[in-house]
Amino acid sequence: MLNQLLYIGLLLILLHVTTPVLYYVIILSKAKGQWPISPVDAGGLPSVSVIIPTYNEGGIIVDKLNNVIDQDYPISKIQIVISDSSTDDTPVKVKEWLRSHSSVNLVYLSSPRSGKGRALNEALKVANGDVIVTTDADSMWLRDSLPNAVRWLSSGEVGLVSCIKVPKGGGSVEDAYRSLYNVLRIGESKVYSTVVFHGELLAIKGSLLRSMGGFPVDIGADDSYTGVRVASMGYRAIVPDDVVCVEYIPSAGYGKWRVRRAQHLVQSFLKSARLPKPRRYRSIYYTEAYIHLVNPWLLPIGTLLLAASGSLLAYALIALGVVLLVWVPFRAWVIQQFLLMYAMVRNLWNKELIWEKVNKGM
Ligand code: GDD
Ligand code: MN
Repeated sequence: MLNQLLYIGLLLILLHVTTPVLYYVIILSKAKGQWPISPVDAGGLPSVSVIIPTYNEGGIIVDKLNNVIDQDYPISKIQIVISDSSTDDTPVKVKEWLRSHSSVNLVYLSSPRSGKGRALNEALKVANGDVIVTTDADSMWLRDSLPNAVRWLSSGEVGLVSCIKVPKGGGSVEDAYRSLYNVLRIGESKVYSTVVFHGELLAIKGSLLRSMGGFPVDIGADDSYTGVRVASMGYRAIVPDDVVCVEYIPSAGYGKWRVRRAQHLVQSFLKSARLPKPRRYRSIYYTEAYIHLVNPWLLPIGTLLLAASGSLLAYALIALGVVLLVWVPFRAWVIQQFLLMYAMVRNLWNKELIWEKVNKGM
């Protein structure tokens, strides 16, 4: 009996480790390969509506607006729509900025706070661009992020483009997590489409988004769910390596922030599991869904079984696991597993659709 516990425990731990490692190795090889599609330089650049949802972004909104108009993209082709629910000085800051930038086509909308998804849908009612781009106020683009995203989107196969995230602040665990994560986003995009998308930059063909009825409002990850939905409809939803966003990592409240994001990601996987998927998307989507929803549990269950087996080998393995925690990538992995499990449980009583604002170390 005790031996059986040892074997089952070992098997679970082995599965827990080898599935994602194997998947990672496969996707890494894809990430190193060529893109099967290429960005297109369309003759006339499409018009773009940049939607910025804002809740109390008075401290950053001016930088954000400057960042958008500094893009290597003709300003005459850009409409900015701010969908605001702030109680701070965000509206004052926007109006002030507009006074010195009167040539910019900016629509300011205000509505009571009801979550990011609803704010995006409000903006969509007035957004008239061929391309719709949503972006969080507290994220910055490189100068070529928008033009590059639009070029990829001009390929007939592509329906949605999101960005690679480069963390600013947050330390080595965040960095380690991001570098593994970015390889997955790019590799999966080269195969067909990835499964996680980013509110820092989400560019979608306007006609497609409108045909979908806009963004979901019953889950937190409007970005990831919309990407998976586009991929499920047969269009590529990709994260290319030349579309980069800088993401500011909060200094205080970091744990809470990561739990909320994990909760939103779990919500996106649960909701999108029901969508019918094109064949070439299935292995990516279901492997990722397994890795995010099921695989984390094998770690504590396996460890408990090992501990219960009472065998010396089991204790040695557990000790080895504890020592390995000094190795940053391993620690980042383990933290993410516990975040995901906690997120799944927490979703049962609080979905965090309207969340507390976290201040970033900007
Ligand atoms: N109008 C409005 N109403 N805007 C909101 C609301 C709201 O209720 N809640 C948040 N926002 C705005 C924020 O001001 C910010 O510009 C953007 O939406 C994202 O909110 P953050 O508070 O910065 O969220 P985050 O960076 O932690 O969340 C990330 O993950 C989410 C999914 O978990 C972002 O990538 C989000 O885009 C993403 O949806
Ligand atoms: Mn943010």
